[in-house]
Formats: sequence, C-alpha cells, structure tokens
Amino acid sequence: MKKIKVKDKEFIPFVSEHKIQRAVKQISQQVNQDMAGKVPLFLVILNGAFIFASDLLRKITVDCDITFVKLASYEGTSTTSTVKELIGLGEVVKDRTVIIVEDIVDTGITIDHVIQMLKKMEASDVKVAAMFFKPDAFQRDFHIHYKGMDIPPDFVVGYGLDYDGFGRNHPCLFRLV
Ligand code: IMP
Repeated sequence: MKKIKVKDKEFIPFVSEHKIQRAVKQISQQVNQDMAGKVPLFLVILNGAFIFASDLLRKITVDCDITFVKLASYEGTSTTSTVKELIGLGEVVKDRTVIIVEDIVDTGITIDHVIQMLKKMEASDVKVAAMFFKPDAFQRDFHIHYKGMDIPPDFVVGYGLDYDGFGRNHPCLFRLV
C-alpha cells in the first residue's frame, strides 16, 4: 500500500483491511454470544461509524433493531462548555439494551455524553462497540465492551474516519505522516 494525500496532508498505511475485518468478525462473534436471547438496539453514531456499522451488523445474527443518530454541538454559556445533542433518536430506549456503535474513541467525551443521555432515557443496559481506541488520549472511565483494537494517539483516516470530510472511503486505516 502506498501513501495517500487527503487534501493538504499525507497519510501512510497503518492498519490493513484484513486486520480490520478480522477484528469486526471477533466483535460480531462476541456480540452474538452475549446478546443471545436479547433484542438489542444498535445505536450508530454518524457520520464516522457508518462503515464499521455496515460491516458489523451484517454479521449479527440475533434479533435487533438499528438506528442512527448524529451529534450536534453547540456553544455553551461559557467558552469551555459544549452541549452535545442526539439528533434523530426517535426510538424508545427505556428498558432496552442499547449497543452504541462508534468508529473511534479518542478522549471519550463524545461517547461518555451519549452514555449519560441513554441512562437518563432509562435504557436498561448500555454497551459500547468501537473499532479503534486511543488509550493514551482517553480522559473518561467507561468500559468499551466490544473493541476492535488500540491505536496510538495519532490522527488517522479511512474506514469511516475523515480529515475535514475526506478520506472516509478507504477500506483500511492511514496515519498522518
Ligand atoms: P472523542 O470524543 O474525543 O472520543 O472523539 C470522538 C470523535 O472524534 C470520533 O467519533 C471521530 O469523529 C473524531 N476523531 C477522533 N480521533 C480521530 C482521528 O484520528 N481521525 C478522525 N477523526 C477522529
């Protein structure tokens, strides 16, 4: 694999498509085992998780429903606070097992916020599935139940992840040079 250029920056191949697909398979097997007899609601966080969700959910064999949300950020009353809102969550989550599907957990702030919101909405169980995790950047303490792999705190693109809207379409992961 060769270097790619995304807008003004160069990226080098980092995680192969084969390795990613192997991780998807392992996650799907674990989810199918854990969710036997349950009917989970998969909550896919747009935009980045669309490719991971598409690969993962085609390997899920338990009854489930799938919904998509987009997070919107607004300036808070002070310069440091940011309010994130779930746009599009029409499904009733009360008393449901909800599995959040996310492309990457970096600081963890985004998913921590989603977890808190789902708890307020009285989900009975909230689990997190993330393909990539940057442990050295993580600032929260929630558990990632279904994790593809740890990566260093470098900026990456591909497999749904973008740089300024570009680069999501690559089937493997690239790291900023
Ligand atoms: P967190 O709230 O810091 O965990 O960040 C979560 C979001 O930041 C992810 O859903 C991505 O959209 C974005 N993000 C974090 N790291 C990267 C990266 O290396 N490349 C592209 N997007 C990233």
